[in-house]
Amino acid sequence: MNPLIIAPSILSADFGHLCDAAQLMEKAGADWLHVDVMDGHFVPNITIGPVVVKWLKKCTKLPLDVHVMISDPMKFAKPFAEAGAWALTFHYEAVTYPEVVINEIKRLGLKAGISIKPKTPAKLILPFLKDLYFILVMTVEPGFGGQSFLRGVLPKIKEISEYIKDNNLKCRIAVDGGINSETGFETVKAGAQILVAGHSIFDSPDPIKAVQDLKSITA
Ligand code: DX5
Ligand code: ZN
Repeated sequence: MNPLIIAPSILSADFGHLCDAAQLMEKAGADWLHVDVMDGHFVPNITIGPVVVKWLKKCTKLPLDVHVMISDPMKFAKPFAEAGAWALTFHYEAVTYPEVVINEIKRLGLKAGISIKPKTPAKLILPFLKDLYFILVMTVEPGFGGQSFLRGVLPKIKEISEYIKDNNLKCRIAVDGGINSETGFETVKAGAQILVAGHSIFDSPDPIKAVQDLKSITA
């Protein structure tokens, strides 16, 4: 069994001191840094672009796990790759031909992920799992940090996990939204191997302990 991967979402960090936040997460033993990119079109919020990724890349060794909640991931794959992204995850709901975007991400030398919103059924993405490094299952509606975990997504995580096992695939399952020690435990039991968490880490009085608590979850 691979160890659990913890990917703190800097969406909940102090945007005036992102470099400090990245270095704190490195010190805490986080595995990746999750960077939420929003375009005000695919989701009703605007956040980070390639220029911020470029500066983050200079101040941390953590792999930058870039989650693009944008309408045109094809257009921005190259700028994010050039800025130093390690993985690029786009939304299934944003594109017509996911395989084209997956191939472009891989051609650029990045790990490829697809994300699905809470209401998107698993069956739509199962055919793509064989080509992905991970599938990012949203456990809140994308757009904002600090929302409550949607427990109704748990059976979908289980369904994807069973499909991956039955077909002997390497694709891992990540969860994103409302993850803390309790909800993280529920998702790990359902098959999650990568936990993205923003609010429960950065708004905690002890962010280092919050990362370590997530890291120590066992199903
Ligand atoms: C939501 C983002 C998430 C979010 C997670 O649209 O994709 O990564 O920031 O943050 P919390 O853990 O606060 O829900
Ligand atoms: Zn995210």
